[in-house]
Amino acid sequence: MRIVILTGAGISAESGLGTFRDKDGLWTKYDLNEVATPEGFAKNPQLVTDFYNARRANCASAQPNAAHHALARLEAALPGQVTLITQNVDDLHQRAGSGHVIQMHGALMSALCAGCRHRWPAPPVMALTDRCPACGQARTRPDVVWFGEIPYHMDAIAEAVETCTHFAAIGTSGQVYPAAGLVAEARGNGAQCIELNLEPSEISRVFQHRRYGPASEVVPAWVDSLLD
Ligand code: APR
Repeated sequence: MRIVILTGAGISAESGLGTFRDKDGLWTKYDLNEVATPEGFAKNPQLVTDFYNARRANCASAQPNAAHHALARLEAALPGQVTLITQNVDDLHQRAGSGHVIQMHGALMSALCAGCRHRWPAPPVMALTDRCPACGQARTRPDVVWFGEIPYHMDAIAEAVETCTHFAAIGTSGQVYPAAGLVAEARGNGAQCIELNLEPSEISRVFQHRRYGPASEVVPAWVDSLLD
């Protein structure tokens, strides 16, 4: 088995980190154009910096849940056979023990220099006056992929999806591309595809298999079924 797993905000919901498009989701409270686009950052960099500082503080006080731990257990049981791709910018997969995590939308715990593209561990509270440790410029921004920007690691992701035998999407609404298009590619390459979500997503019909319920329940059960 070569297993590719794509996770979204739903896997961290039970750890207290809000999703984006659910009833009380982040995009019902904030205008994504203001806080999650390069244009929004150019217009009001302090607003964006405050938004990600608040999310970083939330993340720091959150703990991985049973779904994160189950995926770490799967990776440990099948070394080299599991690729975990996440749309999430939190570090809960890594804190649960997952070693091979591809963060395609960036990471809250990382800072990026808009000048030289150097990255370094983000301080708990980032400031616009923070200087890049490599080039010294004060052009620091959150190391997060904003709408209109190209996701990270797309070559590694394409390679993993091309050769996988199993593809699972966990806790994602299937509304944001290119992530939402990966299942069709995996299916086109003959993979068995499963959706694990609280409810059917926008792309449920593309999956051969589906299990609905809270991630903390359906993910450990799915992992058990794979390792049986
Ligand atoms: N267990 C399983 N699934 C859940 C749970 C839960 N406890 N709670 C919510 N969900 C599901 C919802 O039903 C929904 O389908 O998680 C999904 C969350 O969807 P979104 O909020 O749209 O999040 P996501 O799909 O990760 O968003 C994709 O959009 O805003 C951008 O860059 C951001 O990475 C993000 C991308």
